[in-house]
Amino acid sequence: MVFKLSGIVKRFGGLVALDHVDFHVADSEVMALVGDNGAGKSTLIKTMSGAHIPDEGEITMLGKVMHFRSPQDAWQNGIATIYQELALAGKMTVVDNIFLGREMKRPRFGIPFLDLPAMRKRTDELLTQLDVHVPGIDSWVESMSGGQRQGVAIARALNMDARLIIMDEPTAALAVAEVRKVLDFVIRLREQGKSVVLISHNIQDVFEVSDRISVMRHGRCSRYVRPAKLPHKKSSAS
Ligand SMILES: Nc1ncnc2c1ncn2[C@@H]1O[C@H](COP(=O)(O)OP(=O)(O)OP(=O)(O)O)[C@@H](O)[C@H]1O
Ligand SMILES: [Mg+2]
Repeated sequence: MVFKLSGIVKRFGGLVALDHVDFHVADSEVMALVGDNGAGKSTLIKTMSGAHIPDEGEITMLGKVMHFRSPQDAWQNGIATIYQELALAGKMTVVDNIFLGREMKRPRFGIPFLDLPAMRKRTDELLTQLDVHVPGIDSWVESMSGGQRQGVAIARALNMDARLIIMDEPTAALAVAEVRKVLDFVIRLREQGKSVVLISHNIQDVFEVSDRISVMRHGRCSRYVRPAKLPHKKSSAS
């Protein structure tokens, strides 16, 4: 088991947004998080990703207790969060975005220079691994579709060696063909042994890619549902 939350409580003043939540995600597992508006889904993932510090409870990774103080802290421990309006720099290329803040360098005459050929090669590898198709790795991200941007953001998470990838509504506002693409990226992440937490309002998407579904209500993860594998799959719906 890779990641576990036990008895997590998060209060905002008098409001209990998370009320003793237990939650876990295993390796190679896609866990979906569904529930009404205000149920506590975003608060839960912010707690997982270091944006909120819980008032009570414990977070463990591989059995080790973690105390994330910031999203950077969670990043460094292998947790990547990808939002719909993601933190990609529009006026930068695919390569630049993937290596932003983590550029590969090579010393020349004792001085570290950017190793552009190595970064380009690695970008190609990552995009191939995920089957992401972009107009070119030197194209500006701003010129790309929502699905392509999701692909670049996931490639960036893979490059940072994230073990747990959290996606908050990754398919909201995407065209049907693009949704298909993003769901394929999720399946590829699972094939590579990653854990994924997927928040979605689209129950069809959730049934299609998730191994388990956690339903949130009033700050509690009320139950887990295991999607009956075959009957809900699009391919076998006919
Ligand atoms: N920073 C905050 N300060 C005060 N209250 C907050 C804060 N963030 C969330 N809440 C409250 O906590 C509860 C849970 O909100 P949260 O955003 O986690 O819900 P959600 O399940 O993500 O909903 P949605 O589906 O609408 O995104 C809500 O009642 C919300 O008003
Ligand atoms: Mg939310």
